[in-house]
Amino acid sequence: MKTIHSFREMKKQGEKIVMITAYDYSSGKFVQEAEADIILVGDSLGMVVLGYEDTLQVTMQDMIRHTKATRQGAKDTFIVSDMPYQSYHLSIEETKRNAMKLVVDGKANAVKLEGGNASRLEAIRAIIDCEIPVIAHLGLTPQSIHAFGGFLVQGKKEQDYQRIIIEAKKIEAAGAFMLVLEGIPELLGKEITNMISIPTVGIGAGRFTDGQVLVYHDLLGTFDFKPKFVRQYMKAKEVIPKALKQFTDDVKNNQFPQLENIYKPIKNEDRNE
Ligand code: KIV
Repeated sequence: MKTIHSFREMKKQGEKIVMITAYDYSSGKFVQEAEADIILVGDSLGMVVLGYEDTLQVTMQDMIRHTKATRQGAKDTFIVSDMPYQSYHLSIEETKRNAMKLVVDGKANAVKLEGGNASRLEAIRAIIDCEIPVIAHLGLTPQSIHAFGGFLVQGKKEQDYQRIIIEAKKIEAAGAFMLVLEGIPELLGKEITNMISIPTVGIGAGRFTDGQVLVYHDLLGTFDFKPKFVRQYMKAKEVIPKALKQFTDDVKNNQFPQLENIYKPIKNEDRNE
């Protein structure tokens, strides 16, 4: 399994870091088989697994359950668990307790939280103080959609661009071991990546970050919605319903089960053995 030291070394060597989200036993298993460097149990699970419109309703209970399930399928991969909205906003004590739960109960190796203002920096330091590695997350941080006025690319205006640069520097100084950059201009992703010594992992942050992360369901083409920064490596939205329809038709037409799918009766003489 990779460690926080491996990621720093990968940045030094110019080796790209691959992060993919997973949310349960089977997705964790598939992502581990794909040899991704890091699995992120993202609070995007609220949208892609639980069907919510945003990530804000995701709870600690959701994150623990899904992190635990993902670990069952990916025993040898570094797993990062997202701290959900409300879990690190109210007090430092609660922040520490929630980070510990994700590591102790969920079996994550590290946690991720969004933002880089003064209270987020305090949260990062407090969690690290509990011996838990932290990934920070800047740019289009989904837990801030109401403050941003929607899922809008960040850092386009000069003032925001400069603020994100300053926050990235402070995050490095606070001790985070990695920084996720989401939904920002490519130039900003490049500038931050060249400026800080911790690895950056981008999603919609251009070509020059130290690594890339995509949401499992997005890269498998599960939904009609395809943001510009996503590449779909299959069309699950076509393949899966087609397979399920085939099963439905096979049952209706007496094509399933066939001989190879049935248990054979035990002969009388076998029964006595
Ligand atoms: O929740 C998530 O999946 C994320 C990634 C988009 C980085 O935070």
